[in-house]
Amino acid sequence: MKDIEPADVEGDFRQHELTFHDGSTRKVCVVDEELPFPEGYLIVSRTDTRGIITHANKSFVAMSGYTMEELIGEPHHILRHPDMPKAGFQSLWETIESGKKWHGYVKNLRKDGRFYWVYATVVPNVRHGKVVGYTSVRRRPSRKKVAEAEALYRTLMP
Ligand SMILES: Cc1cc2nc3c(=O)[nH]c(=O)nc-3n(C[C@H](O)[C@H](O)[C@H](O)COP(=O)(O)O)c2cc1C
Repeated sequence: MKDIEPADVEGDFRQHELTFHDGSTRKVCVVDEELPFPEGYLIVSRTDTRGIITHANKSFVAMSGYTMEELIGEPHHILRHPDMPKAGFQSLWETIESGKKWHGYVKNLRKDGRFYWVYATVVPNVRHGKVVGYTSVRRRPSRKKVAEAEALYRTLMP
């Protein structure tokens, strides 16, 4: 996965190195500017059982800033924002791997370093009793819930 370089972003930025659960790393430039989730939008993606993106809709392309080609085949952590605590994703994976539905508020990192908040529902896709992948549907989150999530996530950061 490509880093987000200073040339990819506009305005003031801070640099971070993310470490993912598989030990891989990515350098990112973060711009503290939100792209509001548009009214009426629904962002949908599907992954295989390892979280590799297999499908994305047009809203996902628009909000993430990546092209369809850049998204398909990449791990979903391409959207990982350094302000998101690891604990949130641990609970996501424990829940969906046990065949249950998960929902939560997620701050996502765009290709241009800006961010967008979503209310995500992730469901396991079960075929013949076996989990074959996952689908995530994101809706516009309430501002009150985003403020609560921000405060909570701050307490979970190392
Ligand atoms: C269907 C699905 C959708 C996901 N959506 C996101 C997302 O929007 N943003 C995100 O940071 N992680 C998302 N994840 C979680 C990532 O797979 C990953 O766990 C997370 O970014 C943290 O990276 P890491 O687990 O590799 O350390 C999603 C996972 C699945 C299965």
